[in-house]
Amino acid sequence: MSIFAISDLHADNRENRELVDQINPLNFQDDSLIIAGDISNKLSVIESTLTSLASKFKHLFFVPGNHELWVAKDHEDSFQKFDQILALCDRLGIHTQPKLVDGAWVVPLFSWYEAGFYPAGDPNAAELQGWSDFHLCNWGDEQAPLDLFLQKNRPNLHTYDRPVISFSHFVPRLELIPSPNVLFFKSLPLVAGSTKIDDQLRQIGSQVHVFGHTHINRDLQIDQVRYVQNALRYPRERKMFNRANVLNLVNVWPT
Ligand SMILES: [Fe+2]
Ligand SMILES: [Fe+2]
Repeated sequence: MSIFAISDLHADNRENRELVDQINPLNFQDDSLIIAGDISNKLSVIESTLTSLASKFKHLFFVPGNHELWVAKDHEDSFQKFDQILALCDRLGIHTQPKLVDGAWVVPLFSWYEAGFYPAGDPNAAELQGWSDFHLCNWGDEQAPLDLFLQKNRPNLHTYDRPVISFSHFVPRLELIPSPNVLFFKSLPLVAGSTKIDDQLRQIGSQVHVFGHTHINRDLQIDQVRYVQNALRYPRERKMFNRANVLNLVNVWPT
């Protein structure tokens, strides 16, 4: 009866999908899994991956990441695809709203990112011209979706009667990203997260916060909150950083 966490499954990569399918269905039948976004941009892959995982865990929790909100002509815009994914999760019995499991509240926080997260700016911001979200997400007349996603969390921002484990796809604190001079993609802090996510998780008294997106795994304590990223990442990233080709689940509850 534990709660595990992972993010960035990017299951449209064959190797990643095989790692998901290799999880032993007998090992986690009493456990829950938090998936902190970025399964795929394809609805069929999101559905089949979540269906596979739902058969292996007692409860699954999910929030869409940026890849989920890339749209082609088959969606009006990214907000419509977001609603469609939440409806899919409802149909599959996957939680996208707070739920009490094993003595802790698991609270999903919808989010996005803002350039103001990195007040120093970035001399290499020209890199961002190729950032896929700017070409593949469609926000209609909205310039900045962050606040609209954060507003969706408002009904759930209250005091909880048990310990809280929260999760978002995007990064809640700048300290969770290494300094740009050691980053491969120097502009990452400009498209990574927002301190407004941290404001929300602290408002609900979160003890552990799971996030994803940067593909830079972390597990550290800041001001009484444990922040965890456990991204599966792309196969090429695992090779580049000499990581084993395995899917590890990090235990976030009991702490
Ligand atoms: Fe990702
Ligand atoms: Fe992401």
